[in-house]
Amino acid sequence: MKKFVKFLAALAVVGLVVIGLIIFLPVSRTAPQTNVAGDYTTTNGHGEYAMRMGDCMACHTADGGKPFAGGRPIESPFGTIWSTNITPDPEHGIGNYSLDDFRASLYDGIEPDGTRLYPAMPYENYRKLSEEDIRAMYDYFMHDVEPVNEAPPKTDLGFPFNQRWGIRVWNWLALSDAGHEDLYDDTVLNRGAYLVDSLGHCAACHSPRSTIFAQAGKNAEDDRYLAGGVIAGWPAPSLHGPQSAPAKWSHDDLAAYLWTGRNSHSAVAGEMTQVVGDSLQYATDEDMNAIVTYLRHINGRGEDKTTLDASSSNEPTETEKLLASADPSMPLGARLYLDNCNACHFVNGKGAPEVFPSLDGNALVVADTAGGLLDVMLHGARMPSTEKRPARLAMPGFGDRLSDEEAAELATFVRQGWSNDANAVSAEDVAAARSKSSGTHH
Ligand code: HEC
Ligand code: HEC
Ligand code: HEC
Repeated sequence: MKKFVKFLAALAVVGLVVIGLIIFLPVSRTAPQTNVAGDYTTTNGHGEYAMRMGDCMACHTADGGKPFAGGRPIESPFGTIWSTNITPDPEHGIGNYSLDDFRASLYDGIEPDGTRLYPAMPYENYRKLSEEDIRAMYDYFMHDVEPVNEAPPKTDLGFPFNQRWGIRVWNWLALSDAGHEDLYDDTVLNRGAYLVDSLGHCAACHSPRSTIFAQAGKNAEDDRYLAGGVIAGWPAPSLHGPQSAPAKWSHDDLAAYLWTGRNSHSAVAGEMTQVVGDSLQYATDEDMNAIVTYLRHINGRGEDKTTLDASSSNEPTETEKLLASADPSMPLGARLYLDNCNACHFVNGKGAPEVFPSLDGNALVVADTAGGLLDVMLHGARMPSTEKRPARLAMPGFGDRLSDEEAAELATFVRQGWSNDANAVSAEDVAAARSKSSGTHH
């Protein structure tokens, strides 16, 4: 017994030493990944453009708040994480940051005093940034952003997640090498991969998570890379694999979706609305071409610019015949569709290009997680206004008109209608979706 107590005591000492090491081992910061000439100056507009492509605005600006003053809540499985003030205000913002401090926040997720940032700040992806983009953004934040002397709410997670030193262990396990490695003999593909993997941080939402909550799959050689994720109950569809949009859509349709949030198949809703509105709409022709070419390349679509549409036959489907029959004995789901949805999405479920998205084959509709579909049905959705397509076309919410049972029948109907083949939805699923706020920020 005594031996056992001694053993426990020894174990406790070892544990404390390890924790001590984790906490007190000097913080090392990743060095610049490219050699940039000492007298390097950024070109006009470069910093703002990199900020746009990196979408710093979306997370660091609260709804109706001042640009970059922070205070946007980010829901994590461990609690709410509040974004910080990244205006050049010396007190509450990053006004006292040196270039090295700025790089360390993007590469290593550490503040100047060594405090670890939660990976809600996507440094897993920004770690891939080029030195040129970092310098340009540093210039932009220091000189072109208005300082705001306001403190956003403090993040206060429960134990043990408030022990930020623990993030250090996570970083050791989760982070890949810094810097972006060109994998292709082609400048367009390399540029596309760079934008997707670093600034665009597409994997933060579109890649599944490993057991330690790191983004699974580091590049296109891994099947899990961009193979679909779930973000605050919404499915972020797969961008990698035979059923994914980049595999099915034409080059121009994919570009139209990313630039304007709408194309001949779909319209954007949920968190992606902001990605389009705050970030991707600003992509230059050259960069959009690079992103689209890369996403299609990793899905084997190379030079082929056409749409692969599985359901392109003109034969009416059983669902279409049922809806067109207007048979009074049709099942409840079909009747609710005719009453509520048919006016815009039509009996063939295909809607109208750039106005009403297709529900047939729609990734959101058939996703394993029905949270996004239910959110749109209950709360409605609104496309982003972009310079190319300013109209904010909207769908009204049906939350007041449909009971939980009715919404479940209707959702099941659209998930299994036409060529769709997804699981049924229950009234409990609807009740859960109803109690959550809408994923779309208006
Ligand atoms: C997906 C949301 C998200 C995006 C996109 C994002 N950030 Fe952050 N960022 C955060 C959160 C959340 C924190 C605070 C994390 C914490 O408290 O641990 C943070 C912290 C920071 C910090 C540390 C600031 C401080 O006061 O300690 C800096 C600097 C920063 N971000 C810069 C940027 C820049 C530059 C970009 C664009 C390239 C960017 N962020 C994009 C969510 C985001
Ligand atoms: C903040 C999370 C987030 C980020 C970052 C993000 N996406 Fe998305 N994306 C989503 C969600 C959620 C949807 C589903 C939207 C819908 O169904 O209307 C989506 C939808 C899409 C779609 C349509 C897929 C389909 O099958 O309908 C494409 C294409 C896409 N995103 C590409 C990208 C690219 C490229 C990037 C990086 C430049 C990116 N996304 C970054 C969350 C995100
Ligand atoms: C008044 C016309 C109208 C009606 C009625 C309507 N919708 Fe919509 N729907 C739209 C528009 C416009 C959008 C695009 C909005 C957006 O995505 O931001 C949309 C988007 C959607 C989406 C999101 C697609 C995606 O890829 O993100 C789904 C799902 C959807 N509708 C289902 C339904 C269902 C189910 C009903 C019946 C309860 C319905 N709609 C009724 C006009 C309508």
